[in-house]
Formats: sequence, structure tokens, C-alpha cells
Amino acid sequence: MAHFTKATSVKDWLDQRLAIEKIEKVMASEYWIPKNINFLWAMGMILAVTFALLLVSGIFLLMYYQPNIKLAFDSVNYTIMSEVEFGWLWRHVHGVAASVVFLIIYIHMFTGIYYGSYKKGRETIWISGMLLFVTFSAEAFSGYMLPWGQMSYWAGMVITNLFSGGSLHADGLVEWIRGDYVPAQAFLNRFFMLHVLLIPLAILGLIGLHFGALRIPHVNNQDGEEIDFDAESKKYLAGDKAGAKVIRFANDFMSKDMMVVGIYLVFFFYLVFFHYDFAMDPVNFDPANGLKTPTHIYPEWYFLWSYEILRPFSTNVGLIAFAFAQVIFFALPFLDKSPNAIPASRRGLFKYWFWAMLIDMIILTAMGKVPPIEPFGTVGFFAALTFIGLWIALPFITKMEKEV
Ligand code: HEM
Repeated sequence: MAHFTKATSVKDWLDQRLAIEKIEKVMASEYWIPKNINFLWAMGMILAVTFALLLVSGIFLLMYYQPNIKLAFDSVNYTIMSEVEFGWLWRHVHGVAASVVFLIIYIHMFTGIYYGSYKKGRETIWISGMLLFVTFSAEAFSGYMLPWGQMSYWAGMVITNLFSGGSLHADGLVEWIRGDYVPAQAFLNRFFMLHVLLIPLAILGLIGLHFGALRIPHVNNQDGEEIDFDAESKKYLAGDKAGAKVIRFANDFMSKDMMVVGIYLVFFFYLVFFHYDFAMDPVNFDPANGLKTPTHIYPEWYFLWSYEILRPFSTNVGLIAFAFAQVIFFALPFLDKSPNAIPASRRGLFKYWFWAMLIDMIILTAMGKVPPIEPFGTVGFFAALTFIGLWIALPFITKMEKEV
């Protein structure tokens, strides 16, 4: 057994048992952050804060929500919205956070792509990030089922139908997922369990993995400079704080992060109080009705780009294209063959690739929202082809890139 001495303070008592000083050094006071990074590096912290808002508001909603197909709709739209004091506030916080979190995730992802933050030892950061993207998507989808409105029911029907695999006709798999022939009580129960327990647990574990994956390679910087973190941190600790290229995560960098988080929260609560309706589909204010299909079924804005990759093709080709879109971002670190981890603006053809991909995904999102009539159908079709073509071209154009 280790040797314990009489503690001089509570901190010392804990330190002897839990090595809290060492943990504090590794995670905060000697976790080094480059000085040359901009506000886009605060997106990770904003995501962590938004996830915390989702957890807290979700716990309050859980106190009154009823996972029963006869009661769910009223428990949300009547009990929580008008009977429970401040129930509306927690619902608006939860709904707005669920939508805004995807906006921030996309900004965070495209920042990583622009600066090449998935390269040279940062692959596990990227892959854990993509796993977070997938789990957040599953969390959003399962949460969307819970109010048991028209869009909950029909989106649940359409998405679970995808598992039949087109002409594979794996209808047994679809029934197994639903626990019934159509979305009903078994379906609501299991999606409720996934939404409030299993997926949040997975997200918490993945956030831990994502943060852990950042510790050894450290965060990238906006100039693509390869910083010697050992040498620079020694400089800092020796007193040359101005000359060192790094600062401590806590409290120095955290205070900058918190300023951006503060600005974000002003914008966030502005939406919660004055524009919460953007995060709520009006069709979902009608209770679920299995006998009345809504004229136009579409997912939330953050899934529209991948939905539009599925829609313009025949069933089987559409499913393959959709599956491709779901997994291809995972492969980015391996498809980008260039050794340069520098901003896209200083890279060869990749700078055009980056902007083409971003604009293409915005077009796909817009086309996913409108009904598939002309000319939208054709625009969507070509945007989907462009998406696939860009990914096929990536290894070739990055292989040609000269080392900078
Ligand atoms: C949703 C939960 C997520 C949280 C809480 C989170 C949190 C963070 C934090 C705190 C950082 C360090 C600071 C920063 O660069 O912002 C970071 C970095 C990073 N994240 Fe995430 N992240 C999440 C999702 C994602 C996703 C979906 C991706 C993309 C696939 C991703 C990819 C990255 C990359 C590549 C870095 C390294 C940036 C660099 O080295 O400059 N993260 N993340």
C-alpha cells in the first residue's frame, strides 16, 4: 500500500488518494494550446456547453413526459407547455439546442476540414468526432419520435423503411426494429429508451474519447505550423510567456473560450425566447395518425443534405448513395493523400474541393426541403452526383499536391 501522511488541507488529502494535482496539470494547467488560433477553435467548447444544456433541459422534460402513444402528445403539448411552470422554457431550450447543435457541429467539422486538423496523428480526433456526429444524429432522430406528432410518426415510418434495403426486401428487419408492423407502442418505448439512456451514455463516452484523442497531438493552429509543444511549454514555464508559442488551457485559454461561449449564449437565448418556432415543425403539432399521410414528408434541416442524396435516384441506387454519404466523411483522413496539414487556401486543388463541397452540401440542403418537382429534381440530382464525384476525385487531386 502507498505511504500516506497526515494531510495539511482537504486538497492535500484528496491529492494523496486521487492524484488530483497531477490530473489538474495534465488536463488544464499544463495542457498547452497554441496562441495562433481564432474563434473557430471555440466551437468544441460551445458544443460541450450545448450538450450540457440538452442534458439539463432533457432531465426536466423527463419529469412530465409520458412514453405512451395515447398520452405522449398531450404530455408534451399540453402538460409541459401550459400546465407545468416554466415547462415551455425547458422545451424551447431543448428544441433550440437540438437544432443549433447541428449548426455548430457543421461549423466545427468544416473548420477541421479547412485547416487539415484530421491529419498527421489527429486521425483519432476526427474519427471520434464522426462517431459523435452519428450518435448526435441518432439522438436527434429518436428525440423527434417522442412527441408522437404527425412528423414523428411518418418520419419514423420512412426512416425505418430504409432498413428493408430496397429490393432486398428485408421486411423482417424493419419489423424487428419497430417491434411491430407499424410504429406503435413498442416503437415509442424503445426509441424513448435510446433517447434518454443508451445514446446519451454513448455520447458521454465519446466526448471523453474525443478529448483524450486531443491530448497527445494537441489542437492544430490556423497557420499549419508544426509546434514543438515540449520546447515551447518549457519556455513558458521558464517565464518567457511572451516568446512562447503556447499558453495554458486553464485559466488562460479557457477565459478566451468563455468569451465566445458568452456571445453564443446571447444568440442562443435570443432564439429560445423570440424564435423557438424555427426548431419546431408545424405538422408535428397534429397528433400522430397512421391513416393520414402528410403531403410532404421531410426531415429536420440538418438531415436534408443526405436525404437529397437518397431522393433523386431509383430506390436501390438511392440507398447505396445514401449509405455512401453516411460513412464517407469517416474516411477523410485516409482519402486526403497530401502530407500538408495547412489551411486549404494554401493548398493546390484542395482549396476548390473544399468550397465546392461546402456549396454543394448547402444546395443539397435547400433542394431537400422543396418538393421534388422541376427544376428542383434536376438540380438535386446533379448536386448528389457532384457530392459523390468530389469524394471520388479527392485522393487523386490530393496526391498531386506538392509538399509545402
Ligand atoms: C458534438 C460533440 C463534440 C464536442 C463536444 C467536441 C469538442 C471538441 C473540442 C473541445 C475540441 C478542441 C477545441 C476545438 O478545436 O474546438 C475539438 C476538436 C476537434 N474536433 Fe470536436 N467535438 C465534437 C464533435 C466533433 C465532430 C462531429 C467532428 C468532426 C468529425 C469533430 C472533429 C474535431 C477535430 C478534427 C478537432 C481538432 C481541431 C484541431 O486540432 O484544430 N468534433 N472538439
